[in-house]
Amino acid sequence: MTTTDLPNPTELDETFKIIEDHCDRIYTWNYERSRPQLVTLYNKAAQSQWASVTDLDWSTPVDPESLVSLHAPNLRLMREVTQMPGSPIASWKDKELLQLGLEMFTAMLSQFMHGEQGAMLTAAKIVETVPWIDAKYYAATQTMDEARHTEVFARYIEEKVGEPYPMNPNLEAQITGLLEDSRWDIAYLGMQIVIESLALAAFGDMARKTTEPLLKKLLRYIMADEARHVAFGILSLGEYYQHLSAAELKERQDFLLEHTVNARARSTTPEIWERMGVRVQEVVPFITEAAGKMKQSPFAQFQNGFFAKLVPNVRKLGLLDANDGYLRERWGEAGLLEYEFADATSEDYATYDAVAADRASEPAPA
Ligand SMILES: [Fe+2]
Ligand SMILES: [Fe+2]
Repeated sequence: MTTTDLPNPTELDETFKIIEDHCDRIYTWNYERSRPQLVTLYNKAAQSQWASVTDLDWSTPVDPESLVSLHAPNLRLMREVTQMPGSPIASWKDKELLQLGLEMFTAMLSQFMHGEQGAMLTAAKIVETVPWIDAKYYAATQTMDEARHTEVFARYIEEKVGEPYPMNPNLEAQITGLLEDSRWDIAYLGMQIVIESLALAAFGDMARKTTEPLLKKLLRYIMADEARHVAFGILSLGEYYQHLSAAELKERQDFLLEHTVNARARSTTPEIWERMGVRVQEVVPFITEAAGKMKQSPFAQFQNGFFAKLVPNVRKLGLLDANDGYLRERWGEAGLLEYEFADATSEDYATYDAVAADRASEPAPA
C-alpha cells in the first residue's frame, strides 16, 4: 500500500473514521483587521499559549484512588443499588465501589479526550469555512489549543489512569453532524456555544472536586482556553445572526432544542459494566429506581453549570427571542429560563486565565 492509499476496511473500523464535509472552503483576499474584538481575542490567545511539557509536572505521582470519593453522588447512588433486594451488585463492598468509581472516572476523561479531538477538527473546519480573516486567525489558535487539550488528556489517561474507553456514540454523532454540515455557522453553534459550554461546566466541576494537583492544574489551563473559545463563538455568531432571515434563525433555534431539551436523557457507558463483570441490562433498572428514590439526579449540579453558561450566551445571539420568542417559550417550559442572566462567558474569559495568573505570580527572571 502506498502512503496515500486509505487503510483497509478492518483497520478503518478500529483506528479511523471518515467524515464527509459538505461545506465550501473559503479563501479571502480581504486582509483588513475590521473586527477589533476578535483581534483582541486572537492576541490574547497568542500570549496565553502554554506547553504540556514545560507547564505541567508529569512526574507528579498519582494514586488512582485519590481520584474518586465514595461520598461522590455517583457512588452514593451505586451504594444504594448494592442494598436493593435482588441487586446484581449486592455483594459489593467499598473496594468494588471504588473500582467502579475509577472506571467511571476513566470513562469521563476518555470522553473529554475524544471530544477535544472533535473540537480540534471543528476548529480546523472553521479556519477553512468562515469568510472573515480575523475569525480564521482566531480559529487557527483554537485548533492549536484543542490539539494541546487532546494531547494532555491522552497522556494523563495513559500515564496516570489506565485503558481509555471508546467514544460515547451520542457525542460521536453530535460532533460528526457538525463536521458534515454545509452551513459554516452550525460548526460554531454546536461546538463553541453548546459543547464548549458543556465542557466548561464539566471541567469546572471536576477541577473543583479533585485534589490531585496535576489534574487540577491541567483542567485550570484548559478552561482558560475554553472560555476564550466560547467568547469567540458569541462574537462571531452575534454578528452573523443579525443578517439571517426568520426561517434561517428558526433552523438555528431548532438545532438548539435538538441539543438541549430533546437530548436531556444521558446514556450510560455499557463498557464500564462489562469491565466490572456485570451485565448492563441487569443493573440499569436498579440504577433508575435508586435515582428515582434518591430524588436527585447525580448529574444535577453539572447540568446547572451547563445551562448557566448556555442560556445567557444564546440570549446574546438573539436566538431566545427571534421568531416571536419561539425558543424562549420552549426553554421556558423546560425550566431553563431561570439561567437567562447567570454567567457572562463572552466577557469574563479573562477571569478564567489561570495561565496568565500563574505567570504573573512567578518571580521575574534575574
Ligand atoms: Fe478544548
Ligand atoms: Fe475548546
